[in-house]
Amino acid sequence: MSNQPRHVAIIMDGNGRWAEMKGKTRTFGHEQGAETVRAITTYCAQHSEIEQLTLYAFSTENWKRPKIEVEFLMKLLERYLKSERSTYLEGNIRFEPIGDLSIFSKSLRNVIDDVQNATSACNGLVQNLALNYGSRDEIVRAANSLKNTETITVESLSAALDCTHDVDLLIRTGGDHRLSNFLLWQAAYAELFFTNTLWPDFAPNELEAIIKKFKTVERRFGGLA
Ligand code: IPE
Ligand code: IPE
Ligand code: MG
Repeated sequence: MSNQPRHVAIIMDGNGRWAEMKGKTRTFGHEQGAETVRAITTYCAQHSEIEQLTLYAFSTENWKRPKIEVEFLMKLLERYLKSERSTYLEGNIRFEPIGDLSIFSKSLRNVIDDVQNATSACNGLVQNLALNYGSRDEIVRAANSLKNTETITVESLSAALDCTHDVDLLIRTGGDHRLSNFLLWQAAYAELFFTNTLWPDFAPNELEAIIKKFKTVERRFGGLA
């Protein structure tokens, strides 16, 4: 039997470079990147073997960027969630934020809560959006939540993470070959795919080609073929 990409995770990188190559400001790239989020999410929702799609939208390290870019990203996120509420509902897509949301503004948290609640009964694709997400931060928060338990096990720590599903297929766009603090625990046995395509140019047909290749890989999980 071929592999099924039940959980696909994507590091959506390259928005800024995409815009700069066109002589535009980085924010233009983020704007276009949001369009790609919609297209890729819709594609995954239409392919029932994909149960979870986890997208890296803003890392715990991205606060280091210029204030103007960070503020733009926060506003874009709020605008995106508001305008895509119907896309989630019509596509039967459940929206789940992962990351430490406590730092966000009240109005952004309200929109996040609203879309999460509105889509809680959707039983198609689950889109986990990583917001102020860092894998180390997630693991530390999980460990702290278990500090009064007698023994911490792989299972109990796993279950205490924001994202409780192992990743099957992890893709990074934008040409760099690193994880940048994304799903370090969950990607223990993920198949890693890197593409030079910048996120705004990443299209469903490229995802389809990656999935096709993924299906042919022999996954051994430490065992033998
Ligand atoms: C990814 O694109 C989006 C975020 C990290 C928010 P970048 O903004 O990192 O784009 P590049 O890598 O600078 O081109
Ligand atoms: C990773 O991209 C974070 C997101 C895509 C949200 P970065 O652009 O922040 O990663 P580095 O700094 O190149 O490692
Ligand atoms: Mg980048």
